[in-house]
Amino acid sequence: MGRFYVTTPIYYVNDAPHIGHAYTTLTADALARWHRLLGDEVFFLTGTDEHGLKVKRAAEANGLSPQEQADRTSARYRAAWELLDISYDDFIRTTEARHHRAVAALMSAVYERGWISKGTYEGPYCVSCEAYYTEDELEDGLCPVHHRPVEPLKEDNYFFRLSEFSGRLLEWYDQHPGAVTPEARRNEAIGLVKGGLQDVSITRRSLDWGVRVPWDEGHVFYVWYDALINYVTAIGYGQDMGRFNHWWPAVHHLMAKDILRFHCVYWPALCLAAGIDPPGRIAVHGYLLTGGEKMSKTALNQLFPADLVPTFGVDGYRYHFLRDQPFGPDGELSYEAMVARYNSDLANNLGNLLARVTALVQRKCGGLGPAPRADSPLAPLAAEAYSAAAAAWGRIAPSEALEATWRLVRAANAALEAAEPWRAEPGPAVDGVLGDALEVLRIVAVLASPALTRSSAEIWRRIGLPGPPQAARLPQAAEWGGYPGGLRVEQGAPLFPRLSS
Ligand code: ME8
Ligand code: MG
Repeated sequence: MGRFYVTTPIYYVNDAPHIGHAYTTLTADALARWHRLLGDEVFFLTGTDEHGLKVKRAAEANGLSPQEQADRTSARYRAAWELLDISYDDFIRTTEARHHRAVAALMSAVYERGWISKGTYEGPYCVSCEAYYTEDELEDGLCPVHHRPVEPLKEDNYFFRLSEFSGRLLEWYDQHPGAVTPEARRNEAIGLVKGGLQDVSITRRSLDWGVRVPWDEGHVFYVWYDALINYVTAIGYGQDMGRFNHWWPAVHHLMAKDILRFHCVYWPALCLAAGIDPPGRIAVHGYLLTGGEKMSKTALNQLFPADLVPTFGVDGYRYHFLRDQPFGPDGELSYEAMVARYNSDLANNLGNLLARVTALVQRKCGGLGPAPRADSPLAPLAAEAYSAAAAAWGRIAPSEALEATWRLVRAANAALEAAEPWRAEPGPAVDGVLGDALEVLRIVAVLASPALTRSSAEIWRRIGLPGPPQAARLPQAAEWGGYPGGLRVEQGAPLFPRLSS
């Protein structure tokens, strides 16, 4: 039994969540569910990032106060996560008192340790990123992420002495080769450090929508230097250090590459400056693209979970993003590919296996599911599916975990095709074949449950097993022979009705 702390970025509340935000959150959810199956103690954190200029301007544009804007949009995030069966353990909002306390505690520690000093900053600023750029980071004078104009900003404020952390960061990278994945992102982060780090401005005087600087109340923290701290607020930093030390630094931060610099350079440096360990693991994925462009609130080319769930169902939605958008590279969204994958893996393979087996049990076994054979040729394939899936979840590769699971589904369908139990007389041979197929359905329901939150429970119910598959514990639940036989099997409506393309 282990411990698994997983986080998503906390999302800006300038606008509602789209499928890009849902992608990271869904991946974190599936990982949390996998680790719960393993019996690990899990803490899954998500939430909303509510301060900063971007949110303030969105509020103004909507004729709302920043707090109203934050309340409304944060609620839309919660609603989207409810729609998608996201099983977070905590939802943090940076406007909460607990967060203000943790920011004050952590930043005071950094201040007292001498890593913060006063200065003036001037440079191009992208409000969409909430980040300063240097002139040569701009592309044709525009923000390299949003391709929108930047604004010149000049301020007297406090600086975090990031430039003094290059050596310690490089040492940390060196000693923790798995801290940033994939490798290409790790190299990118190391490149940023080697390229030279400048001190960074961490406070704003011109803005009041933020967390007050405890040693100088005329300033608020620059939104990123409040936001990053959410990851330690939620586990009790500054309030309950026993709890904090229980979870930290064994955290898994998930995010897209747009915020790599903040998570892989600034955040570890800030942790070092505060005297805590840097985060254990930062897993960076690519962008979901529509028409070759990063989908974003700013570019207005977004798709929302609610656009897709009515067609694909919650499970069809989850399965697509986990199976067909591998964690790492960019992925173009294709409606045709979504339909094709749904039809092949869910309707034709898993759905069909369940439909055939439950129908045959009615016809050949009086409705009572037979037990599997100990020497079934499918038994070693089930063991292989489990070990490949476990390894893939460990690498944060849900796509490979599901692919391994579906190899078992396809093998069970092939075994049925070969044995043709529908032609045979009832008897031990038919019982054996159907028992094996039921056993595969049982194991697959467990292995697929991090993706298929609802249909896995429905499979479980239809083959007569009590309780939800989520209550099963791995690795025992994946061992061949768990289906007891003699259970009442139910034939029902198609689990995944075919979609027309
Ligand atoms: O950056 N493809 O919030 P944000 C894949 N508040 N993932 C995407 C995506 C896309 N097209 N678009 C967004 C912020 N995401 C800060 C974070 S954390 C301390 C503060 C996902 O609302 C992805 O996880 O801009 C990305 O990193 C995040 O949303 C950015 O969300
Ligand atoms: Mg963004």
